[in-house]
Amino acid sequence: MRMKTNTKTVRISIIGFGYVGAGVAEVIRRKREEIARKYGLNTKIVCIADLNGIFIDENGLNEAELLKLKTGDMNWEKPEDMTTLDVIKDVEHEVMVETTPTNVVNGEPGLTHIITALESGRHVVTSNKGPLALEYSRLMKLAAERGKELKFEATVGGAMPIISLLRENLAGNGILSIQGILNGTCNYILTRMAEEGLPYEHVLKEAQELGLAEAEPSKDVTGIDTAVKLVILANSVFNLNATYKDVEVAGIAEITPDALKLADDAGYVIKLIGEVDRKGCLKVRPRLVPKDDPLNVSGTLNVATIKTDLAGDITVIGKGAGPIEAASAILSDIISIYNTSSGGDL
Ligand SMILES: NC(=O)c1ccc[n+]([C@@H]2O[C@H](COP(=O)([O-])OP(=O)(O)OC[C@H]3O[C@@H](n4cnc5c(N)ncnc54)[C@H](OP(=O)(O)O)[C@@H]3O)[C@@H](O)[C@H]2O)c1
Repeated sequence: MRMKTNTKTVRISIIGFGYVGAGVAEVIRRKREEIARKYGLNTKIVCIADLNGIFIDENGLNEAELLKLKTGDMNWEKPEDMTTLDVIKDVEHEVMVETTPTNVVNGEPGLTHIITALESGRHVVTSNKGPLALEYSRLMKLAAERGKELKFEATVGGAMPIISLLRENLAGNGILSIQGILNGTCNYILTRMAEEGLPYEHVLKEAQELGLAEAEPSKDVTGIDTAVKLVILANSVFNLNATYKDVEVAGIAEITPDALKLADDAGYVIKLIGEVDRKGCLKVRPRLVPKDDPLNVSGTLNVATIKTDLAGDITVIGKGAGPIEAASAILSDIISIYNTSSGGDL
C-alpha cells in the first residue's frame, strides 16, 4: 500500500457510549498512528454524548483521556443547556458515529440523531439497526441530497464484511440471493443443544450467564433480530423498500434435542437461517443444513452465502457481535468515506 504523505483531519463524535461506542474509542486509540500513516487520516474524537452526560474536547481527546474512557474514569459534564442534538449540530466535526440502542418500533433515538447529523453536514457511521430497517430510503435520500455518506457495515454481521462486499467488491455482479446465520446468540444455543443434547431453556440460561444472550432474549430467539438485518440487506442490496412486516419469521424456541439428534443422524444440523432474494422473498426460519455446507458454522459465528451471477457462490464467516468486532466495522466505514477516488471531499 502507498503511504500517504498529506494528512486530513477527521473529527469524530460518538453518540451512545455503551459497549460499541467505547469499542470505537478503543480501536481509534489503538489504530490512530496506523490510520494516519496508511490512509493519511488524523482521527480525533472531539465529542461523546451519552445518557450519562457529554464530553467535549475540540482539540481531540489525547491518549490519557482515551485511556480514561477505557477505564470509565472520564469526567462527564451535564450541561443543562446542551442536549445530544445540540452536540451533533453545534460541535464542529466531520463524522458522527451513532451507537445508541436499536429500537425497531420507531427507530429512536438513533433516527433523529442520524437525520440531525446529515442535516448538519456530517457523515454518519452507525451500528444501530433500527433507523436503517425502518427508514432506509428516506435516510439514503437525505444523505445524497446533503452530499454525505451514511455507512452501516456493523448493523449486519458485526465484524463480518458483508455490506461492503456486496456493494463494492462484488460491483458488476448480479446478486441473486443471500442466505445466512445473522444472530450469534441463536447459533450458540443451537450448537450447544446439538453438541450436548441439552434442552433449549438450559442452554439459553447458560448463554445468559456467559453474557452471550441478553437478559431479555426475545428479539434474538424469536428471529426478530435476524429479520431486521434481512430488511437492511433487502433494501441496501436489492433496493426492495422492504419492511419488517414483509419477513416471514420463525424462531428457535420450539427446537428440541430430539429434532437435533434426528437431523444429526441424517447428516444435517439445524440452523436459524435468514434468506433474502432479489424477487423480494424474505424468510427467517430454522432449516436443515448439510453438515458439509459452508453455512454450518458453530458457536457465536455468523456466516452468509451470497449467490451471484458471475462469481458463483461466495461465503463469508465472522464474529457477528462484540464491541471491538462492531467497532472494527465502524472503523472501516470511517476510513472508506475518505479512502475514495474523490479523496473524501464528499
Ligand atoms: N454489542 C454488539 O456486539 C453489537 C454489534 C453490532 C451492532 N450493535 C448495535 O450497536 C448499538 C449499540 O450497542 P451496544 O451493545 O453498545 O449497546 P449499549 O451498551 O446499550 O450502548 C448504548 C448506549 O447508548 C446510550 N443511550 C441511550 N439513549 C441515548 C440517547 N438518547 N442519547 C445518547 N446516548 C443514549 C446508552 O446509555 P444507557 O446505558 O445509560 O442507557 C448506552 O450507553 C445497538 O444499536 C446495537 O444493536 C451492537
